[in-house]
Amino acid sequence: MHAEALEFDLYNQLQDETCAQRIITAKKTLGKRAVILAHHYQRADVYQHADLTGDSLKLSYLAAQTDADYLVFCGVHFMAEVADILSSPAQIAILPDMSAGCSMADMANLAKVEHSWRELAEILEPEETITPVTYINSAADLKSFCGEHGGIVCTSSNAGKILQWSFNQREKVLFFPDQHLGRWNGYKLGLSPEEMPVWDFDEPMGGLTPEQIRKAKILLWKGYCSVHQMFQPQHIQRFREQHPDGIVISHPECNYEVCEASDYVGSTEYIINTIANAKPNTRWLVGTELNLVSRITEEFKPQGKIIQFMSPMVCMCSTMARIDPQHLAWALENLVNGNIVNQIQVPEDEAKKAKLALNRMLSVS
Ligand code: 13P
Ligand code: SF4
Repeated sequence: MHAEALEFDLYNQLQDETCAQRIITAKKTLGKRAVILAHHYQRADVYQHADLTGDSLKLSYLAAQTDADYLVFCGVHFMAEVADILSSPAQIAILPDMSAGCSMADMANLAKVEHSWRELAEILEPEETITPVTYINSAADLKSFCGEHGGIVCTSSNAGKILQWSFNQREKVLFFPDQHLGRWNGYKLGLSPEEMPVWDFDEPMGGLTPEQIRKAKILLWKGYCSVHQMFQPQHIQRFREQHPDGIVISHPECNYEVCEASDYVGSTEYIINTIANAKPNTRWLVGTELNLVSRITEEFKPQGKIIQFMSPMVCMCSTMARIDPQHLAWALENLVNGNIVNQIQVPEDEAKKAKLALNRMLSVS
């Protein structure tokens, strides 16, 4: 018999240290039945409890492979949806705080994408000429749209390969929601700015002329991550003036000018691995979220590596930070008591089509 669900209010006032102890105890009790997955941007007081960590691509593989009953996802909403879609129907994905969303993912929604698709149909045959590509930072119904329309999902670590796959299917790509990831990878494939116009979803016909649409290879949805827009090329310039031997590494959600001025560009996992494998006593400027940068600054100090955050401003993923020790303790202790709180459950039909687009990605990666 299940005990009554524990209310979150009981946890709100708990000290972090108390939560940490209770999380450890709950994890011990649950044993292999629960696995905690955490994205690299997760705050340290939550990240320390993770069983599995990674970037979005790695976490997708891990979610598909684990056989735990409960996948407690310390990340944002779309990540927990992917865990639900890729795990077996009996497994349960949990997001400890339902308000942990991704503001960039929210910049595209199904109504707007379908509207854009209909507008494009006035000029071309989208089903024959356009592959829809959604960044994994998007709601499940957009992944489902891509599954249904011959499209695919990409992450920050495989976007180049996914674009190549997409161009092998059809001559153009509608890329949503992150214009910067699309632009950077299109640029690396040799496309010019004219071949990658921005599709402004709030304007009729994306704000483009029929001529611009016909010439386009990638239509870039006008979305962005506000965290990564805080990094600017002048931050890199200043660093290079002060430290001519320093090395610059950025996430592809940064704008084109920042990516162009960086020595390396890649996913969160790539950033960590590149610095981990670098020579000792090197100095780095890193353009991605602060929790990750703070963690690796400490981790690589013993190797004499000096790691600097790119922006003078604090740039954190404030929505991911909503997963705090209080919410994690609450979700786990409820599981111990036999109650499931904050389950993420993608409707079956949507999940089926989204899985098609995700599986296309996993087989291309
Ligand atoms: P990664 O897949 O590189 O971890 O990126 C996810 C993300 O949301 C970056 O802002
Ligand atoms: Fe979304 Fe930006 Fe947070 Fe990544 S850092 S999860 S893109 S809001």
